[in-house]
Amino acid sequence: MKRSVYLLLIGSLVLWGGTGCRKESTRLHPVTLRVPEGFPAMEQSLSNLDLTVEGIALGRRLFYDKQLSADVSVSCGTCHEQRAAFGTFEHDRSHGVFNSHTLRNAPPLFNLLWQKSFHWDGAYRSLTEEAVQPLTGSTEMGMDFERIKEYLQSDASYRESFKKVYGTWFIRPELVTNALSQFTATFISANSRYDRVKQGRAQFDSYEQAGYQVFQRQCASCHTEPLFTDHSFRNVGLPIDPSLRDLGRFQVTRIVSDSMKFKVPSLRNVSASANYMHDGRFATVQQVIRHYRYGIQRSTTLDPALQNGLTMSDAEEYNLMQFLKCLTDSSFLQEQRLARPN
Ligand code: HEC
Ligand code: HEC
Repeated sequence: MKRSVYLLLIGSLVLWGGTGCRKESTRLHPVTLRVPEGFPAMEQSLSNLDLTVEGIALGRRLFYDKQLSADVSVSCGTCHEQRAAFGTFEHDRSHGVFNSHTLRNAPPLFNLLWQKSFHWDGAYRSLTEEAVQPLTGSTEMGMDFERIKEYLQSDASYRESFKKVYGTWFIRPELVTNALSQFTATFISANSRYDRVKQGRAQFDSYEQAGYQVFQRQCASCHTEPLFTDHSFRNVGLPIDPSLRDLGRFQVTRIVSDSMKFKVPSLRNVSASANYMHDGRFATVQQVIRHYRYGIQRSTTLDPALQNGLTMSDAEEYNLMQFLKCLTDSSFLQEQRLARPN
């Protein structure tokens, strides 16, 4: 089935006056996102985003526009590539403007509205708040809003789009981040073989089924179904990288017991989104599992569930990897409405 099933058009709406300088009426097409079968309620509120077909299309154009970076070399889509479930394809960390390097691995982007916070350390609480960071960050796009505004105002078709979506000729920073967030909010991935099995439309083979049992026993306490994360911050015993000295959640809360804790990432699309962990130190899923089996480093904040590492046989490891492959949603990786616009 097509992914666009989640985008339900509920007709057109005529907006009069209201916010800001909206003087004329503008015909916009509101969009309602359907919660996929089996998913819990969303964590993020949609009321500030005001999803419309036109707003999402504007966000899509911005997401792929390299002109929004200081040396015109990167767009959001450069680090967040669709083929890698909107992570950086087979890189530990990503390249930003002027040959810079991000300090962390770009996480894949999907099911964002179900997240409580954003970034590996949970520094941001909403998508619009988050979107300021990559636009202005020196290792991402290195811009400031004056320059962004100047560029967008100088382009007639952007001017028209902003006018249409927001009813004003004045392009403010919060309109840019709103449009970007409207687009990323529609990155919904819920059509993997795992989902079809859950819906009774497919079956696991015997290896996958055995792997699912290993998963439920060893991994599901943190990578909880159906989102494959419980949104918590945990220390999984990775030896600290002395050149990065990244203390994770501690950097946000300054609470010592948060030291070296990072957000539990979803495992949906995990086979497509190498590299792994907050600094991209592992190139394969097997390396991650080997870390859980043999590599756990003890420290005061190490998660209690991992004190003795995770015990499994090689056969169980193999089965687990077969199960994790069932979490790939290939329709999401190819969906045209999320691709770079022509
Ligand atoms: C140079 C590479 C780069 C560019 C360009 C970039 N990002 Fe990111 N993005 C990252 C990295 C790295 C992180 C993780 C940061 C962290 O955890 O500290 C991230 C995190 C995010 C997250 C949080 C995801 C989560 O699950 O926590 C969102 C949302 C996001 N980026 C959206 C965007 C948008 C929108 C743009 C364009 C305006 C953009 N990014 C441009 C590298 C990039
Ligand atoms: C105690 C909680 C916990 C348990 C149990 C756990 N994980 Fe994780 N997992 C995490 C956290 C936290 C991270 C991110 C760690 C980091 O980057 O510092 C992570 C990262 C990962 C990643 C990297 C994903 C990415 O996008 O970078 C994979 C793959 C993974 N875990 C698989 C598993 C598997 C398979 C199991 C069971 C064998 C498991 N995990 C058990 C908490 C857990």
